[in-house]
Amino acid sequence: MPPEFCHIEVNCVAGLGRITSRALVASTAMAPFERHLFICVNERACSSPKGCCFSKGGKDVRDAFKKALAAVKLKGVVRANNAGCLDICEAGVAVVVYPEQVWYGGVTVADVDEIVAQHIIGGEFVQRLMLPNQEHLAGVLSGPALGVPADEN
Ligand code: FES
Repeated sequence: MPPEFCHIEVNCVAGLGRITSRALVASTAMAPFERHLFICVNERACSSPKGCCFSKGGKDVRDAFKKALAAVKLKGVVRANNAGCLDICEAGVAVVVYPEQVWYGGVTVADVDEIVAQHIIGGEFVQRLMLPNQEHLAGVLSGPALGVPADEN
């Protein structure tokens, strides 16, 4: 039996500008993730004035998110993804959380537990790490709280 397809609208933010595109996805094949974290691990030549998130510890930040999410049993609920350049290199390590479209900059391994606890689990964005000019949020500083799985309460 072929998978059923649905039409979804995907909003992406590139350079903090909004791009809307449509995509066909197989509704039966989608993972049930409630959040996606895109963590820039892009590497470019050290001589580049833009710098890159790889040299600022992007892979360590990604690994820390994976470990932190597993520790609170959110693996399979929240996905920490590698991302290429998110076009805010000077503010790296860059992390964006979907579906809220919250952009964080200067993220280090030391910030990961706070983002997971406060934003992912608690629903409150970590304002001290948020990049400026996120007009798409319209001043909203929180989203749905995921809580932790019942056996963690
Ligand atoms: S290298 Fe990370 S945002 Fe460009």
